[in-house]
Formats: sequence, structure tokens, C-alpha cells
Amino acid sequence: MNRFTRAIARGLTLCCLLSAGAAYAQVPDKFTNLKHFRKDISKDELMTQMRGFALGLGVRCGHCHAGPPNAQLADMDFASDEKQAKKTARIMLKMMNQINGKYLSRLGKEKEDLVTVKCVTCHHAQSRPLLLQEILATSLDEEGIEGMLAQYQELRNDYYGGFTYDFGERVLLEFGSGIAEEGKLDAALAILELNAQWYPESFSNEYGMGGVQELRGDKNEALAHYRKALELGQGRQKSFAQKMIDELSRE
Ligand code: HEC
Ligand code: HEC
Repeated sequence: MNRFTRAIARGLTLCCLLSAGAAYAQVPDKFTNLKHFRKDISKDELMTQMRGFALGLGVRCGHCHAGPPNAQLADMDFASDEKQAKKTARIMLKMMNQINGKYLSRLGKEKEDLVTVKCVTCHHAQSRPLLLQEILATSLDEEGIEGMLAQYQELRNDYYGGFTYDFGERVLLEFGSGIAEEGKLDAALAILELNAQWYPESFSNEYGMGGVQELRGDKNEALAHYRKALELGQGRQKSFAQKMIDELSRE
């Protein structure tokens, strides 16, 4: 660590300790409705768990705990089981303990060599662990192509650079190909065009657009994409694109 990263690390620790400290004082010291954790769990240990839940799911305490709207921690009824999310979280805890304690432990490794599954392992800071393409498929079904494009933009604005969704080239490419196989060619084209905005140098995306245009019966557009793919491609990719161009030109 150089001088600057050390200073930044110290600043971060200080800020988080302070905010955790202020929050900490607002949480009761006695717990009355623990069904999963040991009754004598320390406040430190329980709060570490709760922060893990909140960070793992990308939510605040009030997502699971009952209280008036926009409640401060001091106004919350932590013991209440009113919210479904809290009840679900208990089931998740059981599931996680089974994964770690019952299944991973059978791999025959020392305990300290095993990866521990945590909330964040599945949730990646979202309350329902959905993949980007699953969210887009739902908005395509419910709101059509425009709705799906708007959904993508919204997620990209909010989450790009984080680890919740994969905004890499392959996701839209595979999603678009799947949609094309279902015969939804306009939607497939919209998805690959969206991908081309972010990855204009992608051979696979151009090649895919050529394929979708071919299925739509637009030979000129298909040729234009295959030619672009030929320019972008490396090695064997060039021969794939050339083959498509030759076939289409012969027809
Ligand atoms: C994903 C849901 C979830 C989130 C988010 C969450 N909790 Fe909890 N919390 C639980 C569950 C489940 C229990 C009960 C555990 C048990 O039954 O042993 C609990 C129990 C508690 C208790 C003990 C209540 C009692 O008297 O029995 C406190 C205090 C608490 N949480 C504080 C917090 C704080 C502070 C935060 C935010 C940093 C937070 N929780 C975030 C699910 C959550
Ligand atoms: C092995 C993967 C996995 C792990 C680990 C996991 N979850 Fe989940 N969780 C899921 C899945 C999948 C769903 C969505 C279930 C559904 O279809 O509604 C979910 C849903 C939830 C929900 C309901 C979300 C909603 O909005 O409907 C809560 C709350 C939740 N999990 C809390 C937790 C907490 C807290 C932990 C850690 C103690 C945890 N989960 C660990 C997979 C996991």
C-alpha cells in the first residue's frame, strides 16, 4: 500500500465505524424474537450478520423490519415478524446452513479450505437474485420492445460498474439469439442493435445481426452485417463471415 491508498483505507474505516456507531446505539440491546440465532448472541455478532444481510441484498434494515414509512432505526420494531421478507430470510438462513454444513462439508476438504456460501454469493446486492436477461425477458413479455429497452437503460444507469448485473457483450448476444430462436425477430434485432451501441467492434454481434436479418428475409441488411463482421473478425471468424456472404450472394 502506498501513502495514498493507506490514507484512503483509513478514511473509509473511520467513516464506516462512525456511521455504524451512530446506528448501533439506536438498536435495542436485548433481543426477544430470535428463532434462528442463539438467544445469547452478542449484539456485535448479530449486527455483523444484519449488515451482511443488508449489503448482500442491497437493501436497508426496513426491507425486513417493520416500522413507519422512512423510519429511523430507533422507531423500528425489530422483533416483529410482520414483514414477509423477514420470514423469507429465516428460510434462507436454514437453506444456507444446509448448503455450508451439510453439502459443502461432504467435499472432503478441511473446513478452512471451503468457500463459505453467504447471502451475497447468490444475491449480488439485489433482493431477488435475477439475471439481467431474466429481467429483460419479463419486461419484453409485459411491456414490449420499448419497455425492455427502457428497462435495460434504467438498470445500466443504476448498476453499471457494480457487480449485480453483467453488462458484458455476451449477455445480450445470448439473450438475442434465444429470442430469435423463439421466432421473435423484431425483438431479437432490437436486442442485438442495443448491444451494438455498447460493443460496436463485436464480430459476434454483427454476425448475429446478419443471421437475424436473414431470417427476417432482408438480404441486403444481412449482407451489410456479414460484411461488417468480415472486417471485424479475426482468423477463423473471417472465413465464417465470408461463407455467409458467398452463400447469400449466390442466391
Ligand atoms: C434480509 C432481511 C433482513 C435485513 C435486511 C435485516 N434484518 Fe434484522 N433480522 C432478520 C431476521 C430474519 C431476524 C431474526 C433472526 C432469528 O430469528 O434468529 C432479524 C433480527 C434482528 C434483530 C433482533 C430482533 C429481536 O428482538 O428478536 C435486530 C435488532 C435486527 N434484526 C436488526 C437489524 C438491523 C439494524 C438491520 C439493518 C442493518 C437489519 N436487522 C437488517 C432479517 C433482516
Ligand atoms: C443459494 C442461493 C441463495 C442464498 C445463499 C441466499 N438466497 Fe435469498 N433468495 C434466493 C433466491 C433464488 C430467491 C428468489 C426466490 C423466488 O423465486 O422468489 C431468494 C429470495 C430471497 C428473499 C425474498 C426476496 C423478494 O423480494 O421476494 C429474501 C428476503 C432473501 N432471499 C434473503 C436472503 C438472506 C438474508 C440470505 C442470507 C442469509 C439469502 N437470502 C441467501 C437465493 C439465495
